[in-house]
Amino acid sequence: MARQLSALIMAAGQGTRMRSRLPKVLHRVCGRAMVDWVVTAARTAGAEDVICVTRPGDGVAEAAPAAVEIVEQRDGEGTGAAVLAARAELQRADVVVVLSGDHPLVSPTLVADLVAAHERERAAATLLTTDQLDPAGYGRIVRAADGSVDRIVETKVTEGVPASELAIREINIGLYAFDAAQLLEALDSVDETGGERYLTAAFEVLRQRGHKVAAHRTDDTLSAMGVNTRADLVAVTRAAQRRILADHARAGVTFTSPDSVQVDVDVEIGEDTTVWGGVTLVGSTRVGRGCDVGPNTTITDSLLGDDVTVPHSFLVQCRVADGATVGPFAYLRPQADVGAQAKAGTFVEIKNSTIGTGAKVPHLSYIGDADVGAGANLGAGSITANYDGRTKHRTVIGRDARTGVHTSFVAPVRVGDRAYTGAGSVITQDVPEGALGIERAPQKNIEGYADRKTRQTE
Ligand code: UD1
Ligand code: CA
Repeated sequence: MARQLSALIMAAGQGTRMRSRLPKVLHRVCGRAMVDWVVTAARTAGAEDVICVTRPGDGVAEAAPAAVEIVEQRDGEGTGAAVLAARAELQRADVVVVLSGDHPLVSPTLVADLVAAHERERAAATLLTTDQLDPAGYGRIVRAADGSVDRIVETKVTEGVPASELAIREINIGLYAFDAAQLLEALDSVDETGGERYLTAAFEVLRQRGHKVAAHRTDDTLSAMGVNTRADLVAVTRAAQRRILADHARAGVTFTSPDSVQVDVDVEIGEDTTVWGGVTLVGSTRVGRGCDVGPNTTITDSLLGDDVTVPHSFLVQCRVADGATVGPFAYLRPQADVGAQAKAGTFVEIKNSTIGTGAKVPHLSYIGDADVGAGANLGAGSITANYDGRTKHRTVIGRDARTGVHTSFVAPVRVGDRAYTGAGSVITQDVPEGALGIERAPQKNIEGYADRKTRQTE
């Protein structure tokens, strides 16, 4: 039977070079915290228990996904200290994969392959290296004459590092498999360098003690990309975004201007949907099939059915059913629920309201806390006065109602099925089914007004 696999994610570094109050691993890449990306990769690779090393009070524990075991790094600095913080957990473990919380694009396949190689070669430690990245700041791999790994030289600070070592292009990507017991033993005899205990110093110790250290080169540069600065974050985000779009494209989504769109990692998009330029799809947004999204539309945590069109609009926590049209220039706020084939048109704001099947709110309207029946058509400039200064009230508009332009609905108020309102009416009383509600002062015409005005100014 395969041995149980544990994953240890080092996520406690302050990341001072990020210049941020937020702990480094909580910075997001395409909508997901870096540490969550790494947790997901570890789990996908088959890790049964995932241990995450955090600093007390840094907020990482609270933000970590459920079922992750949290260990606090209370003493010492450095990646070696991070691993030692999990001593008790590692004493229970067999093989442990150690991952860096600042490598969000680490691939589950690479993790699984690493573990397989580690077990196959019966090594005490197995690390991954690459020579495909700019090596600045990474740990350089110093190979012995026989080609085996002699040690890892850290180059975060280059002072005192010989030029011959700075010239090495092969770097440590910060992803390892260890025999847990041997790792602990080695780390216990690693000294601090500049106030930090380096995990990478354990390799030299293991080697000196005659344990097998295996190293594998990888061309997987995405897995190898670590984030120490916001410039690194930009590079990783760009790579992650490309990968997300490529996955959607393979699943049948068209992007007409791929470099101008942002699609978060958890967003779902159906086949034959076209995403135009300047579109931002974030959070838990789900878009159905055959939609036209954008150009220049932002959708957050919302649900769109099939065949929806939504140009130049801003949607937050709302639902839009099949065949509906939204925008251009619509603002759908939380709990806006636009029914099938319905329309929320130009300069229309809707919140906490249902717009029934086929109902239309085509122009210049504010609809808040309302229920609009199926097939109703609201005139341009329909406004719900939903707030009386203390509480919100609902407006109910019946099926197939036709309201005139510039109607105000002073809630609570109801307009019956098939009822009408006159243009410019301020509706404060219910309109019965099939009736016309009109509230307007009779028009008065003053004859000869223009001539009189001209005489006055002479
Ligand atoms: C580390 C490696 C380096 C490798 C690089 C790959 C060491 C000493 N060096 O360097 O060889 O090329 O990663 O990206 O390991 N962390 C803690 N507690 C700490 C310090 C760090 O949990 O006290 C966590 C950080 O949150 C981070 C990870 O460990 O996620 C790596 O630490 P970092 O300081 O970024 O190491 P690097 O200098 O990048
Ligand atoms: Ca790093």
